[in-house]
Amino acid sequence: MSNKAYGKRIKIKETILHNPYYKTFIFNSGIGGFDFHFPGQFVMVHLPGVGEKPISISSSEIGQFSITVEKKGPFTEELFKLVKEDSLYVRGPYGDGHFGHLHQPGLGIAGGCGIAPILAVANSFAGCHNSFRILYGAKDKHHLLFDGPEETEVQYATDDGSFGYHGFITDLITKELVEEYDQFFVCGPEKMMKTTAEKIVEYGVDPKKIELSLERYMKCGEGICGSCEVSGRRICVDGPVFNYDEILKMPDFGNYKRDRSGAKAKI
Ligand SMILES: Cc1cc2nc3c(=O)[nH]c(=O)nc-3n(C[C@H](O)[C@H](O)[C@H](O)COP(=O)(O)OP(=O)(O)OC[C@H]3O[C@@H](n4cnc5c(N)ncnc54)[C@H](O)[C@@H]3O)c2cc1C
Ligand code: FES
Repeated sequence: MSNKAYGKRIKIKETILHNPYYKTFIFNSGIGGFDFHFPGQFVMVHLPGVGEKPISISSSEIGQFSITVEKKGPFTEELFKLVKEDSLYVRGPYGDGHFGHLHQPGLGIAGGCGIAPILAVANSFAGCHNSFRILYGAKDKHHLLFDGPEETEVQYATDDGSFGYHGFITDLITKELVEEYDQFFVCGPEKMMKTTAEKIVEYGVDPKKIELSLERYMKCGEGICGSCEVSGRRICVDGPVFNYDEILKMPDFGNYKRDRSGAKAKI
């Protein structure tokens, strides 16, 4: 692996260790820095000699932005070791994000590290008089992130029942709940997103009002390499956020993804 650096070198302003698996890194955005327009946009984070990976923006405000990372494998383990004043390299921001209407009540539904872009949506709703609620599921209580805007109501579910509802987060999506909201923001494992969107549509919601943030293996982040392709759409430039009406025209969704080598495999 080359030690050449890609992107802009930025210093970590602050870190928050939420639990052994989740850590947030806060950066100054400053002059010549990063302008994020919508929650759901992502950056390519580069650690020279380790790798470069896509990570969503978990919050952005004037002068600073953050990313929230789940420790999963070699790259995120190295990222976790970084502390305040350490530097890393960032390219972006990339992609289209969520187009939330702040004057309408919104429901976020997150699974696992899919909470990161949903927190960014919640942060943009914070301070508005409209309600934003999150349904958030993880495998156990140690993989739950509890930090979000104070005014956001969160309902939790864990696969093992160690916190909140015992079962899948999708079980908590009821017709009564769906009828309280005008827009829906979903990010998590693809099967979970598929079940979520199908349920919400079944309760009479227009698929255009449901936005899903897709994840695929990414290399360039700029629409060149094709590794993130889903049914002819490149997630890095055409997404990662799509409304469900567009996704219904993507037969690979919920069925196939490409691995690191570019080979298509069943999900
Ligand atoms: C648009 C987008 C936004 C993301 N936002 C976040 C986020 O906010 N927080 C977070 O913790 N994670 C996020 N991820 C996932 C993150 O990129 C992977 O968790 C990370 O790359 C894992 O690398 P690893 O070496 O630690 O683990 P590995 O063991 O290498 O991989 C663990 C998992 O991450 C996936 N992954 C590995 N490399 C890539 C890659 N180059 N592109 C896409 N997926 C990959 C693998 O398919 C595998 O399922 C995002 C992914 C995408 C596509
Ligand atoms: S990551 Fe290269 S085209 Fe999307």
